[in-house]
Amino acid sequence: MRGKISQNLDFFLLEIKIVTMNIINLKTLKNRVQKEIKSAKDSDELENISKRYLGKKGELTRVLSSIGKLPKTKRARVGKGANELKNFLEQKIEEKRKKFQALSSKFQEEYFDITVPGKKPALGHLHPLTLIREKAEEIFQSIGFSVIEGPEVETEWYNFDALNIPKDHPARDMWATFWLKESANPKYKTRASKLLLRTHTSPVQIRYMEKNQPPIRIIVPGRVFRYEATDASHEINFYQLEGLMVDDKGKINAANFKAIIEEFLKRFIGKETKIRLRPSFFPFTEPSFEVDSLCLNCLGKGCSVCSQNGWLEIMGAGMVHPNVLKNAGLNPKWLAGFAFGMGLDRVAMMKYKIDDIRLFYSGDLRFLQQF
Ligand code: PHE
Repeated sequence: MRGKISQNLDFFLLEIKIVTMNIINLKTLKNRVQKEIKSAKDSDELENISKRYLGKKGELTRVLSSIGKLPKTKRARVGKGANELKNFLEQKIEEKRKKFQALSSKFQEEYFDITVPGKKPALGHLHPLTLIREKAEEIFQSIGFSVIEGPEVETEWYNFDALNIPKDHPARDMWATFWLKESANPKYKTRASKLLLRTHTSPVQIRYMEKNQPPIRIIVPGRVFRYEATDASHEINFYQLEGLMVDDKGKINAANFKAIIEEFLKRFIGKETKIRLRPSFFPFTEPSFEVDSLCLNCLGKGCSVCSQNGWLEIMGAGMVHPNVLKNAGLNPKWLAGFAFGMGLDRVAMMKYKIDDIRLFYSGDLRFLQQF
């Protein structure tokens, strides 16, 4: 009720105002509305102002529709002023409206919901062969071996001669070799020895023994190269892990070697496996043997991983040949040692049940993402 009365009162006051309307009133109205428009904080507030002054029952609309009630002398001037004010306010409101619209579309464009979970960046991970190498290093280090590295480009002396494989000896045929062209530039000419991509990690045995006194316990992981046709079990480059243990004669024998390798494989595979030693030949070990592991893929039945053998050849090994000790400056009279060269790709294939060595070097993400 009270609301209604006060509305009527408002209307009445307005009527009086209109009757007394003059240009001064219009000016104060203009200032007031302009201020309100300016301080409008959002489009709702703006639309309210528009409604209040220019809407059907808006203050200015009512002024306009009551112009007729004004005394004739005022009518033309006030009418003109009121119309001008209407146009002016409409224009101001429209300007402000556009400003709000622009702001809102900019806001939508830049809208950033901080509660949305972030996109995970695609992270790479270590290559399966690196994982294998690190695992092998960790196990050997825990039983007292140091990790040593050697050059991939090797001299003929370290790769062959020092390992008791003289020039023209048929044993060299065991390693298909990438020989490097001699440089025409005298600065790079190697007079002492021809260069090649090392065919195995065994040359590092010599390099290490030259500079270190026994007791020696090292492993040498690294990349090796063979000039061969590739197939499911052969690549032109692959990884080996060389092992060398040298100490006083009598302290070291093949049984130590067997125990260490069994311990390594047990920890590496995560369970007891069977190995077997077969007599073999390497110029730098005597006696020499080949170490086979029971194929974990078929448990001895025969499959593509083990070429239907049931056993997988994983390393060559043997007691260090006296000539090798001599070539490295050690005395075979007092010292003895064992050495082994494990194919890291082979043990990786065994651990992960991979049936083609070439997959490691294919860069195929479908393969790599499984590790
Ligand atoms: N270097 C040999 C090879 O590449 C492996 C080996 C290492 C054998 C050490 C005996 C001792 O086949």
